[in-house]
Amino acid sequence: MSCFLSPSMNNKSREDEGSSMAVPYDRRQIATREAVTMNKESPNNIEAESFTFRELATATNSFRQEFLIGEGGFGRVYKGKLEKTGQVVAVKQLDRNGLQGNREFLVEIFRLSLLHHPNLANLIGYCLDGDQRLLVYEFMPLCSLEDHLLDVGAEQQPLDWNSRIRIALGAAKGLAYLHEKANPPVIYRDFKSSNILLNEDFDAKLSDFGLAKLGSVGDTQNVSSRVIGSYGYCAPEYQKTGQLTVKSDVYSFGVVLLELITGKRVIDTTRTSHEQNLVTWAQPIFREPNRFPELADPLLQGEFPEKSLNQFVAVAAMCLHEEPIVRPLISDVVTALSSMSATTGSPPRTTGSNVLKTVEDQGVF
Ligand SMILES: Nc1ncnc2c1ncn2[C@@H]1O[C@H](COP(=O)(O)OP(=O)(O)OP(=O)(O)O)[C@@H](O)[C@H]1O
Ligand SMILES: [Mg+2]
Repeated sequence: MSCFLSPSMNNKSREDEGSSMAVPYDRRQIATREAVTMNKESPNNIEAESFTFRELATATNSFRQEFLIGEGGFGRVYKGKLEKTGQVVAVKQLDRNGLQGNREFLVEIFRLSLLHHPNLANLIGYCLDGDQRLLVYEFMPLCSLEDHLLDVGAEQQPLDWNSRIRIALGAAKGLAYLHEKANPPVIYRDFKSSNILLNEDFDAKLSDFGLAKLGSVGDTQNVSSRVIGSYGYCAPEYQKTGQLTVKSDVYSFGVVLLELITGKRVIDTTRTSHEQNLVTWAQPIFREPNRFPELADPLLQGEFPEKSLNQFVAVAAMCLHEEPIVRPLISDVVTALSSMSATTGSPPRTTGSNVLKTVEDQGVF
């Protein structure tokens, strides 16, 4: 939720269910490699590294509060530095309840560690030590899109229009890889602005892809009938039936596009009742193109090409269509956003002096 060194609220509606399965764990007995379909097309078939709990405790200074960078539905995230290599990492300590068996956990980890794309945050390794389960990711210095878009403090410079298009394009490319290149395809399930992380050049990298499965118990086949996702981002048909397709992710992507346009959180109970749900509020405006400027984030102060805004809103509206079949494929969205990015000629934004206060600023390392 937040990238600063303070505990943050868990705003998720993900169901944490089931009791942990006490599957006896013996590394020698686990035929994990055989159970994982290797993606032969990937030039970079690196498996996740196994860490001991002690190594990760050392990396995070015993999970000290000052190293806490956020907390989500799966557990807490700490900044750490690996003693062996000096690499700075994000360590996600998974909650101990509701977890699947060790074997399923390892199969999932190996599967995820085979996914490599410039717009995915790299899963470096994991720890399975007693009942402790942790994931180690590359650390993203500018934290999440949510931190730059939805929690903008008076001292922060808001994201400019070109950066918003660039971030949307990067996130769409990451999602397109998961849907259309990964084998088997990965449905994200929990696509949202806090899962879009940013590097020092404001390149988008998706985190937590495929993580929803780690919360399921036992039977890894039977994961599509239970709703896992964050309130407001879930596609209506997924919420009603639990049936999951790539088009549910496209809906969630549309919600993020709408957040990028408006600078508003999808659900905000402090807004007036008809504005509390961003999508419901925006739907009538989608039907009247002359009203599109009403959607624009006031922090942009009108600094965007009107044509570009219109195109962006049109893409968002298509992604948010009630009927999944009418929604575009994410690769179509990549094509649309690529042409917008080319015409606006968005230069990479540098971190400069206007960045958020990151954990470095707070003197952790
Ligand atoms: N690899 C990372 N590098 C830097 N910061 C990260 C990293 N992963 C997570 N964070 C920070 O930690 C916060 C919490 O992340 P976390 O994934 O636990 O929760 P969430 O994204 O809000 O919800 P969910 O559990 O559904 O993913 C993020 O918003 C982000 O600011
Ligand atoms: Mg997350």
